[in-house]
Amino acid sequence: MAVIRSVIRGVGAYLPKRIMTNADLAKIVDTSDEWIVERSGIRERHIAADDELTSTLGIAASHQALVRAGIDPVDIDLVVCATATPDRTFPSTAVRIQSGLGITKGAAFDVQAVCSGFVYALAVADNFIKTGQSSRALVVGAETFSRILDWTDRATCVLFGDGAGAVVLEAQPQHGARDDRGVLTTLIRSDGRFEDLLYVDGGPGSTKTVGHLRMNGREVFRHAVQKISGVIEEALVASGYTADEIDLFIPHQANIRILDGIAKKLGIEQDKIVKTLEKHGNTSAASIPLALNQAFEEHRVREGSLVLMEAMGGGFTWGAALARW
Ligand code: ACO
Repeated sequence: MAVIRSVIRGVGAYLPKRIMTNADLAKIVDTSDEWIVERSGIRERHIAADDELTSTLGIAASHQALVRAGIDPVDIDLVVCATATPDRTFPSTAVRIQSGLGITKGAAFDVQAVCSGFVYALAVADNFIKTGQSSRALVVGAETFSRILDWTDRATCVLFGDGAGAVVLEAQPQHGARDDRGVLTTLIRSDGRFEDLLYVDGGPGSTKTVGHLRMNGREVFRHAVQKISGVIEEALVASGYTADEIDLFIPHQANIRILDGIAKKLGIEQDKIVKTLEKHGNTSAASIPLALNQAFEEHRVREGSLVLMEAMGGGFTWGAALARW
């Protein structure tokens, strides 16, 4: 039976020029390159310049994705931006990306699911496309986490970085078969009982300030492998695939031990995992499209590749998506 699927037409990314190494961090807080690498796998991260906003990063990544897709921005009718670090409380960063690209039709809005934001935004855009409400969508993950870090807290400030990534989705008729191209399955989950394990201690409606990121790293770690593996297994069953059929595994880049733990639990070989956290740190909603972009530039993803994406973040929120390139 013919169905409409969201086919990924292009991917793009942007990283701010300034690189902060672990050695740079050791000058600010009581830490060491050895500790950070051993516990997280991170060696360096990019930090946005003062005049670069989340939308600046998102526009640059989107522009590259549109050029690669060969699609004119005026033909985009949906912009969904996943971010926990919007330029302003309102309007959404998505409308700023929309106007920055010269898009004037359709709708633009943000999705807030922290590190799971890209999987959430992909799920939203895919459902708009499948129901016929959008024909070409831009899905962006863009963050400037450097602006919400407590630079005196060594347990958190060493883990995050800034960046953006974007994909262009296009509605295309497919056969409704398991080897279709496009987004095959998205599953998103949340459980607000875990809010206090990872949050920002401010907001316009509470403290009237932006606040800083707070995290119980050990507890987050404990939940991550179990929750993410569970939703991936559900996504595989829903799409009729097994883990050994995955060509490329694009995990959210939070911690090397989390993503290797998930791959091991599911039996996904090391050479199928895309890892960017050594150079990017955890860029929250931007980490999956940044990793997709790296895989594209390294020719590791090609037409027909079966790609598995997953993430977990504050809330908790978590989710998985399966797509054929
Ligand atoms: N440098 C040196 N020592 C440090 C640092 C640092 N940057 N940070 C913490 N320590 C110390 C602690 O004070 C503690 O010292 P103590 O034993 O004297 O009390 C010791 O190191 C161990 O601290 P733990 O927090 O128990 O270290 P752990 O092995 O759990 O590693 C880490 C910490 C890296 C945060 C880990 O728990 C983790 O990655 N958790 C997942 C969190 C995460 O990825 N969050 C991202 C958002 S959610 C997501 O994307 C999945």
